[in-house]
Amino acid sequence: MTKFDVVVIGSGPGGYVCAIRCSQLGFKTALVEKYSSLGGTCLNVGCIPSKSLLDSSHHYYDAKNHFQTHGINFDGKLSIDFDQMISRKKNVVDQTTKGINFLMKKNNINVLHGHGSFVDNETIKIEKDGDYDFVKFDKAVIATGSKPALLPFVNIDKKRIITSTEALDLKEIPKKLLIIGAGVIGLELGQVYSRLGSNVEIIEYSDKITPFMDSAVSKELIKIFKKQKIKFYLSHEVKNIQNIGSEVLVEALNPDSKKVTFEGDYCLVSVGRRAYTDGLGLENIGINLEKNGKINVNEKLQTKLENIYAIGDVIEGPMLAHKAEEEGVLVAEIFSNQKPHIDYNLIPNVIYTWPEVASVGKTEEQLKNEGINYKKGQFPMRALGRSRASMDLDGFVKILADQKTDEILGVHIVGARAADLIAEAVTAMEFRASAEDVSRMSHSHPTYAEAIKEAALAATEDRALHI
Ligand code: FAD
Ligand code: NAI
Repeated sequence: MTKFDVVVIGSGPGGYVCAIRCSQLGFKTALVEKYSSLGGTCLNVGCIPSKSLLDSSHHYYDAKNHFQTHGINFDGKLSIDFDQMISRKKNVVDQTTKGINFLMKKNNINVLHGHGSFVDNETIKIEKDGDYDFVKFDKAVIATGSKPALLPFVNIDKKRIITSTEALDLKEIPKKLLIIGAGVIGLELGQVYSRLGSNVEIIEYSDKITPFMDSAVSKELIKIFKKQKIKFYLSHEVKNIQNIGSEVLVEALNPDSKKVTFEGDYCLVSVGRRAYTDGLGLENIGINLEKNGKINVNEKLQTKLENIYAIGDVIEGPMLAHKAEEEGVLVAEIFSNQKPHIDYNLIPNVIYTWPEVASVGKTEEQLKNEGINYKKGQFPMRALGRSRASMDLDGFVKILADQKTDEILGVHIVGARAADLIAEAVTAMEFRASAEDVSRMSHSHPTYAEAIKEAALAATEDRALHI
């Protein structure tokens, strides 16, 4: 039986990055993955395919709605080849997952395909196609990720009642797509299909969309999405979803507790994700799950067993690829007696709609709840020359800073390229910059980043220059 210094179970961004860092630090490392394709949720059915369809649908939307204004006309008819769009997405996924195979080879990581489960606290069983093998480990890392959360009364038939996985691989563009949940998946995939011509209706339990984000962001977003013809039903509690053949019926209670029925040809259920630990043999090593199904770890991401760690979506914290990656690196460095640290407050959150949404640090609601005195500076994207040039006028940058010290406590952006802009805010906050520090830095002109400087000026002394 082969013995490894480290065995990582799960090849998502948490697991494969952990394996690379372990190998860089000189550990004999194995990576166990039950699917033939490496990369986990993120590369196969998450971040990468969703961004691929967001980009394709954005091109179509722009061609249809904006090109004429730019002086670009089509002589022929503009049309969508949906098969080609899906096939391009598959190619992007294939190229990306093959890249992980290359990285595993380059770093001498033993990739073991099969379902991994703990036999005891030093042995993992790996099963594939009815066959099995065992490996021994000094240390193990659980990086088994997450799966879509389900509603207890819903049967996801994967035909008309679907999760994000099926929504990324449909055979046709829905005529009317009902979406349960106005969170990240609901908005990203809702926008994809709305741009491609589906009537999209989003039914949300909370009284606002993206309830976890700063309220100003939620308000701005719903305005923008309504302009894009997406319909929202807030404060609606879904009670039943039924496939009746060529249609899906969704029953919900509206804010007046009256029963309302929605009809569509597809219904995407996107109400969050649950930690995935099925068949992992945790009972054999005495690890019990938390109430929310997650694995409990200490600040070193160690489970109650000193040689078994857990990272990524399977533990507490935001279910994000870059959070999982940071944790993968942290665990590997702990194995080599380093003292790594993650500031969870500074893990950015991004929604890749257009305009994009990105935030880091505290929301205004959090600061209020925590009794922290703050000041804010906000600058609208439409006041930028760059925004007018590109016709991306929606959104703003909002900076929250400590009332007394001026330290930046939170940055919230809705706007073109917000996903990339947020990196400046993360850097500034990692170095504990004040709003004035950022306001005194030169920002290239004309760029969307100028809105960050202007919002910082507004937060410092209410002296934005261009508004
Ligand atoms: P995962 O990526 O879920 O990987 C876990 C792996 O473990 C899987 O490959 C699984 O097959 C394997 N596994 C599980 N159990 C076993 C076992 N017993 N034996 C062997 N293998 C096993 N995050 C972002 O940051 N940005 C985005 O743009 C983004 N977009 C997303 C879009 C969608 C539609 C979805 C669904 C998610 C998105 N996410 C995004 C979230 C992101 O995908 C996850 O946070 C990330 O993949 C978590 O990484 P992980 O390594 O913890 O687990
Ligand atoms: P989410 O947590 O973002 O949103 C779920 C939404 O569903 C919430 O608004 C919630 O109030 C609502 N909801 C819950 N139960 C409901 C019910 N019964 N009826 C109506 N609404 C209900 O979850 P989502 O969108 O499924 O995404 C899962 C996770 O995947 C995200 O939290 C995120 O971590 C990750 N992800 C990240 C992306 C990114 O970084 N860009 C993109 C996509 C997913």
